[in-house]
Parts: sequence; C-alpha cells; structure tokens
Amino acid sequence: MATADHSHGPDSALEQRVAALLARMTLAEKIGQMNQVNAGEGVSVESLREGIRAGRIGAVLNAVDPESVDALQRVAVEESRLGIPLLVGRDVIHGYRVVLPIPLGQAATFNADIVRQGARIAALEAAAAGINWTFAPMIDIARDPRWGRIAESLGEDPYLASRLGAAMVEGFQGEDLAAPGAVAACAKHFAGYGAAESGRDYATTNIPENELRNVYLPPFRAAVDAGVATLMTSFSDVNGVPATANAFLLRQVLRQEWGYRGFVVSDWSSIQQLAVHGLTAGDTDSACEAAIAGVDMDMASGVYAAQLEGLVDSGRVGIEVIDAAVASILRVKFRLGLFDQQPGRATRVPAVAIDERLRIAKQAALQSVVLLKNEAGILPLSKANTQSIAVIGPLADEPYEQLGTWIFDGDRSLSVTGLQGLRDLVGGAVEIRYARGMETSRSRSTAGFYEALEAARTSDAVILFLGEESILSGEAHCRADIGLPGEQARLVQVIRQAGTPVIAVIMAGRPLTLTNVIDDFDAVLFAWHPGTMGGAAVADLLFGVESPSGKLPVTFPRAVGQIPIYYNQKRGGKPPSPETTVLIDDIPVRAPQTSIGNTSYHLDAGYKPLFPFGHGLSYTTFEYANLRLDRTVLRIGEALTVSVELKNTGRIAADEVAQLYVRDLVGQVTRPVRELKGVQRVRLAPGEAATVAFRLHSDDLAFFGRDNKPIVEPGEFHVWVGGDSEAGLRAAFRLLAAGAAQ
Ligand code: NOJ
Repeated sequence: MATADHSHGPDSALEQRVAALLARMTLAEKIGQMNQVNAGEGVSVESLREGIRAGRIGAVLNAVDPESVDALQRVAVEESRLGIPLLVGRDVIHGYRVVLPIPLGQAATFNADIVRQGARIAALEAAAAGINWTFAPMIDIARDPRWGRIAESLGEDPYLASRLGAAMVEGFQGEDLAAPGAVAACAKHFAGYGAAESGRDYATTNIPENELRNVYLPPFRAAVDAGVATLMTSFSDVNGVPATANAFLLRQVLRQEWGYRGFVVSDWSSIQQLAVHGLTAGDTDSACEAAIAGVDMDMASGVYAAQLEGLVDSGRVGIEVIDAAVASILRVKFRLGLFDQQPGRATRVPAVAIDERLRIAKQAALQSVVLLKNEAGILPLSKANTQSIAVIGPLADEPYEQLGTWIFDGDRSLSVTGLQGLRDLVGGAVEIRYARGMETSRSRSTAGFYEALEAARTSDAVILFLGEESILSGEAHCRADIGLPGEQARLVQVIRQAGTPVIAVIMAGRPLTLTNVIDDFDAVLFAWHPGTMGGAAVADLLFGVESPSGKLPVTFPRAVGQIPIYYNQKRGGKPPSPETTVLIDDIPVRAPQTSIGNTSYHLDAGYKPLFPFGHGLSYTTFEYANLRLDRTVLRIGEALTVSVELKNTGRIAADEVAQLYVRDLVGQVTRPVRELKGVQRVRLAPGEAATVAFRLHSDDLAFFGRDNKPIVEPGEFHVWVGGDSEAGLRAAFRLLAAGAAQ
C-alpha cells in the first residue's frame, strides 16, 4: 500500500493501519517497540533472538553484516507474535562504503544537489546491507571549532545548514521512503548540542530561547518540513534540563508548534544519563522523565524496557504517552514499507555502478576544497613547467586518515590518496619525490625532516599534506589548541628553507588556526577530510584540471581566544572598525585608561577572523557588478528579486558560489550584522557573464521577536551579493506592512 512521504499531516490509511496494530498489542509489546538495542560487534543473533521473538525489541543498531541483519529481521517478522519488523539503525554519516567528504566539507560545496546525491548513494549502499535507518544528518549549528563534532556538522549558519540538511534528508529518504534503497533519516541532535561550553563534547549548553529559535532550531524545522522520519535528542543539558528530558523542545516546539509526527530516539544511553546529570535519582525517574517529555525510543540503555511497565502500572506514565510513542514508531515502519517487503528488501535495492558512486564522491570532494590563499597565482601547477614535485607530509598517503570521522563501514581500499592521485594524473610527466616527513600528524619526532628537506630542495614545487588525522575530530575528540598538531609547524619552517614554493594541502575535521604558518605557504588548499576520492580531487585541483570552488561554511579564527567567532554576530553597541582597532604593540607605554571611543576586539587578535565565512578563492577572477533590486519597497507578503551581473574575468572556466546576505537595520530584538539568505553556484567560461537572480520573500526576513514568536517587521534592510560574508555590492530596500502606503 502507498504510504505518504511526509512526517506531519495524517494519512488516513496509514493511521488506520497503525491504530489497528496498536489495538492488538500488549503493554509489553508496546514497550518493546520503544526499545532499541545494540547489535554491534560481539553481540550475536542468538543473544537477541529471545528478546525479538518475545516482542521486547523493536529496533537494533550497529548490525551490519547482511546475513545477521536478515536473520534478525526474520526472527522479528516470522517468529514474533505480531511480526513487526525491526528498524535497523547505523551511523551512515557521509557515505557507507564509498566515503564522501565529511559533512563540514560537504557544506563547503554550498551545493544542495551534490549533498543530496551523496546521501542517495550512501543510502543505496547501506540499504543493500539491510540498514533501514541512518543517524544523519547532524544539523547542529557549530560555532566552536574546538568541538570535535563540528566535522559532522554543516557549519555555523542556520540558512546553509537548513538547506543542506534538508537535501541530505531528501537524499537518504528519496521520494518514497517505501522504495528499496531509501533509508529513514534522523535529524540530530535536538537541540543545541553544538553550543557545548568551551567546545567540549557533552558539556552544558546555555542558549537563551530567542537564540535557540533564531539560530539552533531552524535546521530542525527545515528537516521536519523535508519529511525527516526521526529525530535524535542531544546528550547535553539545555538551560538546566537535559535535551532528553526537555518537554519544551520535544513537546511544545517539535510536536505542538511544528506538527511533527515522526518519532524521537534518545542518544546512546542518554535516558539513563539523566541521573548522571543529576536531573533524576535513578533509572525509574529517568525513564519517567524521558517518556513524559516525549522521547519515544530508548537507544541502548535498556531503561525503558526495565522501567516503563512499572511506571504505567503505578500511573506515573499514562498509557496514552506509550500509545503515542508506539504509534509514532509504527508510523515510520509503515512509511518505510517494512511490513510489506520484509525480509528480502535489501536484495531489491537498485545497484549503482561503483564508477558512478566514485564519480559523485569525487565531484563532492572537488567542490568542497577551499583555496584559502594563492600568492602570485602559483596554482594551478602546469605539467609543462613543472619537472618535479616533492610530495611531503603525514597525510599525503594515508588511505584511512583522509576519510574522516564516522566511517565505520568505509572501504579504505577504495581510497585514492594525494600521492596516488598525483601519480595517476601527472606521474608520467612530472617526477614525484615522496618524503613522509612525519609518521603521523601528531608526531613529535623530527627524524624525517632532513629527507623531506632534501626532496624539497631538489624539486620545482613542494606539496605539503598537513592537518589532522581522523581521530582528532569527531565525537568526544575536542581540542583546546586547534593549530597544526605535533611538529608540523616546525616541518613547515624546515621545508621553507629549501626556497622552493610551498603549497599546503590541509586535511582536517575542523577549522585550524593557521596564523603561525600561513605566511610560509605560497598557496593553501583546505581539503577537510575529503573522503574516498580526496586525493584524485586534490590532484585535479593542483594541476588545474578543475578550479577550486569551495567556500568556508564556518569562520576560521586567528586565535582560539576569538572563539566563538562567526559572521552573523550581533553588532553590539561599540562595534569595531579598522580605525578603532589599536593592537597591543601600538599602545603607548603608560597610556592612561580610557574607554571613550573604544570598541569590541582583542588587543592581540583584532576583530577579524583569519578567513571569513563564505571565503574561497578560484583560479580565475570574478567580478560582481550592477546589483539591482526590482523594487526598493516591499510589502509584507510580497517578494523582490535581487540580481547581479557576475563575470568570469580570468582565463579559466570555474564555478563561483554567489552569496546573498541581508541585514535588518532595526529590530525589536537586535539583528545580526549579516544573514545569509541565498546561494547560487554558477559555472562561467572565461569572459562569460551571467545574471544571477535571487528571490527574496518577506517571509525570508522573519525572525523570532521578544515574545519568541515569529514576526516580519517593517523597516530598512541592506542587501549584499558577493563572494564571501565580508565582500559584496550593497543595496537597500524598505519593508512595509501589508497595505501600508509608501
Ligand atoms: C552517539 C552519537 O552522539 C550519535 O550521534 C550516534 O548516532 C549514536 N551514538 C549512535 O552511534
């Protein structure tokens, strides 16, 4: 039967099926549906058989061997009383076998289409193994690069994370969740997880409701609107009530305001951890708080399985809470078509040839790499003028490390490393001298430096592959110092002595403070962890087969002390400017204290980041001209068109990501200095020009006001279109109340 592919708004046939099944279930069977157990390494099918047969387990995670998954499903469907199939969950975050760039890298593409395609191939590969539920996308706004999970995020901006997060949902779930090859997505971690104090994973978050609504919640709203089947709670304490027991988030915002009808799963043991937080005295109260707050499924802690029956018997948890949770879970199982197709669903997944999957991974990697610096146009290298290159660094030939965090199932044997990519591309024409220099990105030993220096001395250019190994970012892998780890900065100094141009290719799971090394590089390609095809993409970019076109989805600080630093900050009452910024060495000795005329910045870092949000250079040059608005007065309910002439003024065909920003000059709550409202990736041949038009509706100017309700406020707006969050041509318009005279 057809199941509607949306998570809110009832579908009556579906609701009837859910209700009919629910009516046949015992309390124990209902609670079983709310129980997800680990079926990962070391857990045998046999050990789960009895629980599944008795209806005490409704979902598993981490079972990946197709035969075991099939065996588990058969027990559920053929041996349990009601034959309810299992949800089989797995962290398929940025690829399954073929690995795409880490999500932060995918965000640097600013390209919803490639993100959607990437999620689609990941879904197809995972579904073929029997997985029907992925714990992605992670759409936590991340403004602290110390936080290891920034790697999994889509960056600092609510608009970008909303657009790309929704695209991931569409890619994973496809047009029809019931079609073989679709997997249920899970928007996580609801909500505010990225605001962990000092970027330390699992730490407390304190987010005023207004900021929560204006910054952290919009990507979740977008995911719900895109039909996301499930949501996962955050591990964190949010304003004193951990997200896993937060009825404000889970009931008021998610269900009442947004009309969400999918289900909510806890994070791993986060229900049990409510007691560790000190919110509850133990498992019984933890289960009670979480259930009442609206957590439908317990991931891994077993607390629901052990406690809910007693809580219902004692009347602390009403049966209607249980019924609503189970209905939400069953709804997803029906939407997935599991009742109609299991077992054997995995065998009907459409096959996509490996070449095609690798092509998409390479395309994503190509568009994700950001050219941060290119002094004197040193890049691209040309085969004709380059006799030899020295390929140096701990990440030049690391098939595993380039894949990034969360790649449990990634096939490293498919990886094309930077060294391999260069050999494949130019090995016949250019002599390649490889010297690792350092064993790992963290090495303290300088033993390999001499060999590396020799390679640099005797070559026409040095390609230095630096950065972080995968394990230095991701869950629970936060850093207080986000410079290049180990002795990499010293390696840079040593290589510099060769006098050969140095091109850095940096692979990392987060922005790094490159302030101490940036001047030593002639060019820098920031490649994130670029995935399976990373090295092939980097080689193409180094030799100009393609021009870099990635843009930073997150601000790069000069110093850790600037964090949090993000482009869409509030202006404050004393905003900094170049004129007011007096740095530490400029202050006269024994200068008298004064604050008159002083502004908001750091004496030792100024106020600018090292690289702003949206930054990314190209091998060509783009000129923005003739910014036009089709009207300068807009009424609420109407839209205007912002257009600009974009011209490729260089000699190379390339993509540019044109960015539209607005600023609401006066608001009942203060508004950010700029907010991204549109992006367009445009390809232009040398000399070619195009009109790039953005539609801006008054709804796009809405924000949450003093009463934390959405409003669209009449007033003056500035609008910019340009190549990053600091640049751009500016125009202005006025927003009037509907029906107001001009
Ligand atoms: C904990 C992580 O926080 C979450 O993102 C992940 O999906 C689960 N573990 C399951 O592995």
